[in-house]
Amino acid sequence: MTNMSKYIIQGGKPLKGTISVSGAKNMATKVMVACLLSDQVMTVKNVPEIEDINRLLEVLTDLGVKTSKLGNNTYQLDPKNFDPRNLNMELVSKFRASILLLGPLLAQYKEIKFPHPGGCTIGKRPIDMFIEGFKKMGVSVSMDEKYYTFRSQGLQGADIVFPQITVTGTETLLLAAVKAKGKTKLYNVAQEPEVIALAEYLNKQGAKIKGIGTSILEIDGVVSLTNGEVDVIPDRIEAGSFLALACASNSNLKITNCDPEHLRVPITLLEQMGVKMKVNSNSIEVLSAENIQASNLKTHEYPGFPTDIQAPFTVLLTQAHGQSLIHETIFEGRLFYTDFLNRMGANIIMCDPQRVLLTGPTKLKGKKLESPDLRAGIAMVIAGLIADGTTEIENIYQIERGYENLIDKLKAIGAQIIKRND
Ligand code: EPU
Repeated sequence: MTNMSKYIIQGGKPLKGTISVSGAKNMATKVMVACLLSDQVMTVKNVPEIEDINRLLEVLTDLGVKTSKLGNNTYQLDPKNFDPRNLNMELVSKFRASILLLGPLLAQYKEIKFPHPGGCTIGKRPIDMFIEGFKKMGVSVSMDEKYYTFRSQGLQGADIVFPQITVTGTETLLLAAVKAKGKTKLYNVAQEPEVIALAEYLNKQGAKIKGIGTSILEIDGVVSLTNGEVDVIPDRIEAGSFLALACASNSNLKITNCDPEHLRVPITLLEQMGVKMKVNSNSIEVLSAENIQASNLKTHEYPGFPTDIQAPFTVLLTQAHGQSLIHETIFEGRLFYTDFLNRMGANIIMCDPQRVLLTGPTKLKGKKLESPDLRAGIAMVIAGLIADGTTEIENIYQIERGYENLIDKLKAIGAQIIKRND
């Protein structure tokens, strides 16, 4: 989905002050789907006002869920009239988290047609591990050019081993397992804070999940769950993006409403680069990022360095002294945006699709750009804010999918950025 709006940035302005972090996209979308496991009302607080949430609310409304906004990032979801037959295929194919619907849908209906889920174009993003997991749970899966068809006579507990760690795969099979018949064991699961928060919510509502926060989850299926109130955790990826902005622009910026515990590896990397910070229990203040040194960066599943802030940190490394090797290990197509940094004046050589060698520091110059995906998009915004001259960024739908109120937040710290509808 594209729109004609663009961001226009006058770079090089000093930034200062406080910037607040919103609720985590990758928890909010998942926990809101979990409302379908009960017929009671769910209240979700700290929901970011972003495009992915708007799309999900549309999908849930089509499915018969009564959604109401109670103001201030709080939503109430009433799934009493949930009808799996009204799945909006077009919308579902637009964002990755929609695949979580499969568990609740299969718990209530014997046959579900489902399109390949969308999301950012950062690699092939197959769903083979989801399909294998569902097969183990007694679901038969067939596929034509457009749709998968899932058929089940009731989900059965199973032993499922993920050959590779998958965030949405873990969450999807967790939602399927909580009401399946018998015991499910999920091996080699993702341990991202958003996965843990989802599992904790489910347990609060009557699910029986053991091993939360470890690599093995053991789930005893229950017949019914309740719904209740849930607070979305702070978005560690938004916080990490602002951290990269503060350091790249060498600004005294305080990032508030965040959980630094979720960013221990990126914070340590910044300390090694020579950034001076004050880390409190729910804020991080960048004091100075003078004369920062290059560093290698290798993405890894949590608690390793998050792939979702690899692009913002690469922009930061263009301002560091020396050579940095950036190794993207999670997605095979998540370094192609470095081409736009080179067009702005960076010195980056692609060794192979998953590794680049960057030599810094280099002054960046404003350019006309088009956002290819969410995280490369925010990297463009950061690059534009530290560059000389004007940067124009098109296809900003991709950025607004995941960053709440970005323009206002940036203006409040002194950035010169406007959104123009052409
Ligand atoms: N994979 C497979 N087969 C599968 C599933 C995954 O080969 O069936 C591969 C993927 O292609 C990838 C690796 O496994 O190479 C890990 O992918 P994962 O499934 O963990 O990613 P995801 O669940 O699709 C979530 C986030 C991403 C984030 C990744 C990694 C959501 C909605 N998305 O994606 O967030 O980058 O985990 O942490 O939670 C973003 O917010 O910008 C974003 C892309």
